[in-house]
Amino acid sequence: MGGNNVTSGTSSGSSVGSGASGLGVAPPAGQPHGSAVTRLPSGELVLGGVGLGELSRQSAEVGGDASARIGTPTYVYDVDGIAREARELEDAFEGAPHLVAYAVKANSAGPIVRALVDEGCGADVVSGAELLLAMRCGVTPDRLIYNGVAKRDDELDLAIGVGDIGIRAINVESVEEIPRIAARAAAQGRVARIAIRINPGVDAKELDTHSYIATGHDEAKFGVPLSSIPDAVAALDSAGSAVRLVGVTAHAGSQLTSIDAYLASARAVFDTARSLRSRFALELVDTGGGFGIDYGEGCPVRPAEFIRAARVVQREYGLDDLALFCEPGRAMVGAHGVLLAKVIQRKIAAGDPPRRWMMIDAGMNDLLRPALYQARHRVVPVTMADGARLLPFRVVGPVCESSDDFGVHELPEGDVAEVALLDAGAYGYSMASSYNGRPLPAEVFLRGGAVATIHARRPITDWVDDRR
Ligand SMILES: Cc1ncc(COP(=O)(O)O)c(C=O)c1O
Repeated sequence: MGGNNVTSGTSSGSSVGSGASGLGVAPPAGQPHGSAVTRLPSGELVLGGVGLGELSRQSAEVGGDASARIGTPTYVYDVDGIAREARELEDAFEGAPHLVAYAVKANSAGPIVRALVDEGCGADVVSGAELLLAMRCGVTPDRLIYNGVAKRDDELDLAIGVGDIGIRAINVESVEEIPRIAARAAAQGRVARIAIRINPGVDAKELDTHSYIATGHDEAKFGVPLSSIPDAVAALDSAGSAVRLVGVTAHAGSQLTSIDAYLASARAVFDTARSLRSRFALELVDTGGGFGIDYGEGCPVRPAEFIRAARVVQREYGLDDLALFCEPGRAMVGAHGVLLAKVIQRKIAAGDPPRRWMMIDAGMNDLLRPALYQARHRVVPVTMADGARLLPFRVVGPVCESSDDFGVHELPEGDVAEVALLDAGAYGYSMASSYNGRPLPAEVFLRGGAVATIHARRPITDWVDDRR
């Protein structure tokens, strides 16, 4: 199955030419969830109606000081494209009770979270800081859920204490978490609303994704194993009125490119909910996120198709009176972001064939996925000269690690000023670090075919001041 994105071999999709499909960057027909970039006949790459060629040389403040350039490395996002993703997913529910709880960890930028909230999304958070950010971006407590295997007491206090009745659901990932939550709720004189995140025990092979992002199998640290549900019920009984069970949830894994594993996990959720609802006043079933995108190897299913299929099974289980929640991250934002990088230099080692590297100013600290999961992001020139001859280059960053390597890509033999790493909208900036004393990348948010907001890069002296 394509799309699990764990290879790092030579790119095969590039070809010379112009027009939207001339560089292998537009999704082939039948693979609708590919990168959102196109290429103009002039050879310039375009995202969200904005030519990327000039972007890094623009002012770092919208309408501001022209001497402060946006520069590189810089993430650029088409926020309109992200809003469209949300609308398409919302439509799949056809008015049935539901919540699309956007997984903030995928991309926590305020302009993106606010755009998704405007489209009706809530938020799935995994820390107290994400919870506060989501609320700052307009998510109300009743549209917030909180996942995580090791939530700190102060984070639980926050989730229990916000608003009139706390957040919609704290997803407990172990039986042991239930008495902890009960104690924190009792201390506040509140009732904590919890959902049991089950570990659906889906066969790891069936998940068809990289082992680091497969979460719903027996060996994973996530979720309450199905065999422990009776213990969870006993813990709920002991907790008394300090906690209220409102739902059952699961998240099978990320970058799923087929519906089967998602439905296997959803069935486990529905089965558990059906067995618990005679004892508990359940409000929701939550089948998690994980909808895959096309990183260049195909992804035949759209997020809405996962939801339509889950709704059919939900009805089969007689649970359609419960709200259906889902927790998509990557599928909302991944295809709508690119990472722009400057080419620093090339290095050619003589031989037959010669080995060629292209050193760029973005590294694994800016985009960790290739180093962390052997993920592949297509690397393409921002401006492509007509008729350029393409050769395989290993694209590497400046970080002092061998894993700072974006794989081999077909790139022009002649000079290239800037490249774009495609499909970098999810788990890009949110995983970035300042390893090697490198500043976090800048971010540019496009709306209506223009730059709407810029999160400028901090000066390198900030890091020096922090670390001194
Ligand atoms: C519990 C949970 N929900 C949702 C997500 C979002 O997954 P994705 O970005 O693949 O949709 C994750 C990702 O790790 C997760 O762990």
